[in-house]
Amino acid sequence: MAVGHGVPGPGEGGPGGVPLLAGLAAAHAAGVLHRDVKPSNVLLAEGGRAVLTDFGVAAVDGDPSLTRSGFVIGTVAYSSPERLGGEPATAACDLWSAGLTLYAAAEGQGPYDRYPSITAAAAAIATTDPAPPRNAGACAPVIMALASRDPAARPSAQAAIGMLAGAVVAGSFPAWPGGAVTRAAGPAAVGPPSTVAGVPGPRPPAPTSAPVPVMPVRLAPRPAFLAGRAGLLEELAARLAGGPGPRVAVLSGLGGAGKTSVAVEYAHRQLPGAGVCWQFAAEDPAVVEAEFAVLAAQLGAANSPDPVASVHAVLARQQAGWLLVFDNVADHGSVRRFLPPAGPGQVLITTQSQLWPPGQVLDVPVLGPDVAAGFLATRTGDPDAVSAVAIARELGGLPLALEQAGAYMQAAGMPLAQYLPLLRARACLIECVSGGL
Ligand SMILES: Nc1ncnc2c1ncn2[C@@H]1O[C@H](COP(=O)(O)OP(=O)(O)OP(=O)(O)O)[C@@H](O)[C@H]1O
Ligand SMILES: [Mg+2]
Repeated sequence: MAVGHGVPGPGEGGPGGVPLLAGLAAAHAAGVLHRDVKPSNVLLAEGGRAVLTDFGVAAVDGDPSLTRSGFVIGTVAYSSPERLGGEPATAACDLWSAGLTLYAAAEGQGPYDRYPSITAAAAAIATTDPAPPRNAGACAPVIMALASRDPAARPSAQAAIGMLAGAVVAGSFPAWPGGAVTRAAGPAAVGPPSTVAGVPGPRPPAPTSAPVPVMPVRLAPRPAFLAGRAGLLEELAARLAGGPGPRVAVLSGLGGAGKTSVAVEYAHRQLPGAGVCWQFAAEDPAVVEAEFAVLAAQLGAANSPDPVASVHAVLARQQAGWLLVFDNVADHGSVRRFLPPAGPGQVLITTQSQLWPPGQVLDVPVLGPDVAAGFLATRTGDPDAVSAVAIARELGGLPLALEQAGAYMQAAGMPLAQYLPLLRARACLIECVSGGL
């Protein structure tokens, strides 16, 4: 008998998502796709057995009569990037959804559940990776493998079962918090960091003719557009200015909310007075480690056996202020050892994680409708305020989605009023099919 929705933990009689994946493995072996794997379609049976339900939108692999071409089936927040891009459903799409369902089991919600609109969620799924789960223990790598953006990189259901079983032996899989699962509600101008000697930004106070810094600078180009962040930049400056020792601020928010853009803008504003300004791509600690070796060499400690310690030592002795930006950090644990312990500097971290020491986090929210509409008007040069506000609302104020829309309209020479019905039609299509219609 079903007693609730969710995914059981090991204490509930099942090693996490194994029963869920077993159901998928059996279906896939029979050539059947589920196409709507999500937390609310997982029933917890007595004894903690997880049962994957609602094969109502399932289709037999290769049977064209059962395939609704061009439709996206399944709740948007659990739909794979390729499916939202209009590609046909595959077993790999189910596996993505299963990975996100297990993610929700560990975290209490899926990585794309927090987005303010369907269109914003779809834009984020298309372009941003899920933040690594914090509570999945040894199962996190399995979940992240299933949530690979490249469908070919996802393990099969059977392979994932093997990985999960190993993880359960090695660690633990968290129980579903509260038992019940809620239904889903619904790159940027910044390229690889480049060494700059001065500030190429288009707006004042960019010191384009500033003297070449004598100390190392590695920083992405200044954002061309940055709407509605004046207050946040001021708050950031207040948090990071003054006081002894390195000051730390953490910009936290949804993928695509504009965290990196704010950090880069802030860093450019600091450049004139900074002795060292270095932006680390910090998703992967191994990459950060390698970057420290580059920075150490620039600070005169080439071939140091411990570049992190060498850089820290130089920064501790610095007279001039310095700024280190750790961009796209998974969590506190993964960056802690890289944070300089001493010196007159500032540390700026961007992350999707919200768990940081008290007083460090600054939220980077989506943009309000008026600010977002203003950005669209500026970006496109179209003064149609009514359409701009409507589009901004449709996109949930997510900067990533707004930028994509603006770039599209600009490239296509399309006015806002013409884009709006296209956007609404797409949102409607996604909404309808995600409801299984
Ligand atoms: N305030 C803003 N005004 C206009 N465009 C913005 C704003 N903030 C961000 N953008 C644009 O939105 C896109 C995403 O921004 P950004 O890369 O800074 O987001 P992010 O939060 O760092 O995303 P991720 O979590 O994927 O690292 C970029 O194209 C950027 O230029
Ligand atoms: Mg970023």
